[in-house]
Amino acid sequence: MPDVSLKVNGAHHCAWLEADTLLVDALRGPLGLHGTHQGCDTAQCGACTVLMDAKPIKSCNVLALQMQGRALHTVESLAQGDELHPMQQAFSRHHALQCGFCTPGFLMRAVTLAAEPEAACDPIDPQWVRHALGGNLCRCTGYEGIVKAVCEGLVAMRTAAA
Ligand code: FES
Ligand code: FES
Repeated sequence: MPDVSLKVNGAHHCAWLEADTLLVDALRGPLGLHGTHQGCDTAQCGACTVLMDAKPIKSCNVLALQMQGRALHTVESLAQGDELHPMQQAFSRHHALQCGFCTPGFLMRAVTLAAEPEAACDPIDPQWVRHALGGNLCRCTGYEGIVKAVCEGLVAMRTAAA
C-alpha cells in the first residue's frame, strides 16, 4: 500500500492508501474532510467537485495517487474563520440550497467561474452561468436560486478583488 502525500487546503497530509483509492474517498476517509460529498461515483452529479491547481475536477473520477504534487482545495477552504466566502454568502442570501447535498460541488465550480472572461461582463449572463454549471446536478432547488446566487457571488468576488 503506497504512502501518498497530498497537499489539501495548503496543508500536507500523508496517508497509507490502496493504489486504487479515489480522491473523494481519501478526502472523506483518512483526511477527514467531509465537506466534499459523494453522490453518484460516475462523474455525473458534481457533488464531489474540488479544485486541482485551481481547476474544478470531480474527485470521484481521479485516483488520490495521481494528485501528488498538485494543490488541492475543498469546500473547507472557502470560509475564513467565521467569515463565509462571498459565494457562500450569496448562496445563503438567495436560498440556493435545500438539503445542501449538492452545495459543496456547486460552490467549488462557481468560484472557478471568476477566472472566465464572461465573469467580467456587467451584468453577468444567467444563461452562461446555467450552462457553465451543467456538470452539477441539484434535485431540490430548481436551479433558479443557484444561478442568481452565482451571478451575485461572482460580482462580489470581482468587487473584493478590485
Ligand atoms: S460523486 Fe463525483 S460526480 Fe457524482
Ligand atoms: S439542495 Fe438538495 S440536491 Fe441540491
